[in-house]
Amino acid sequence: MNTSKKITIAVDGFAACGKSTLAKALAKELNYAYVDSGAMYRAVTLYFLDNNIDLDDKEAVQKALDEQIYIEFRNIDGNNHTFLNGIDVEEEIRSFRVSDFVSPVATVSAVRRTLVKIQQAIGKNGGIAMDGRDIGTVVFKDAELKLFLTASIEERTNRRLQELQSKNIQDFTAEAVAENLKTRDHIDSTRADSPLMQAEDAIEIDNSLLTPEEQLAYTLELAKDLIAEKKKQATV
Ligand code: CDP
Repeated sequence: MNTSKKITIAVDGFAACGKSTLAKALAKELNYAYVDSGAMYRAVTLYFLDNNIDLDDKEAVQKALDEQIYIEFRNIDGNNHTFLNGIDVEEEIRSFRVSDFVSPVATVSAVRRTLVKIQQAIGKNGGIAMDGRDIGTVVFKDAELKLFLTASIEERTNRRLQELQSKNIQDFTAEAVAENLKTRDHIDSTRADSPLMQAEDAIEIDNSLLTPEEQLAYTLELAKDLIAEKKKQATV
């Protein structure tokens, strides 16, 4: 239980719903840490692909998680970069090769157990905005602010296309991107271990027609009210 005066913000939702954009902006406004939990699943996926780790080989999976994979985030020129074993993999983990295999990897319980433990350790004192699929339901069940984002598949496809183009990642077509989002949503929502679902106490936001600024203004108000409440409680 986080007893500091800072709150925990969990942002969950379907693929390419703008979760990272929102969580990052909230963290910046509040001077909180931001963690992209999806980047951790992507980094594990990249390692498994590059090292031919078979998901059914429990021993190899566990050994890789325990001894061979070290993930960290570093700030490069104001941007959050994911490092895998000391190498900047921020671009590579967004490639189609990784996007195509990440959801099957994220169904593996050993992978989830390991990453959830790291995420909980990073956020144990609050003051964090984390985005993913199971943040409000599993990682931070007690988070003071839980947001669940949705948007139409057309909107999400367009946003992801723009994002990939801006990063100069070009190993995809529009159809392939849409197909990938739909397939991942299906696998993520139907897996046995911590499936993607809205926490009972989460606030749902369909942001299809909202600008990032509108979405930020609304959620920042919610966060500020909760922070004020928490501070009041701490002084009673
Ligand atoms: O593409 P998008 O930014 O929406 O996805 P992401 O946040 O980078 O996550 C990539 C994949 O990692 C998801 O499709 C899930 O399979 C998995 N994931 C998960 O299972 N649990 C999380 N907390 C975060 C991501």
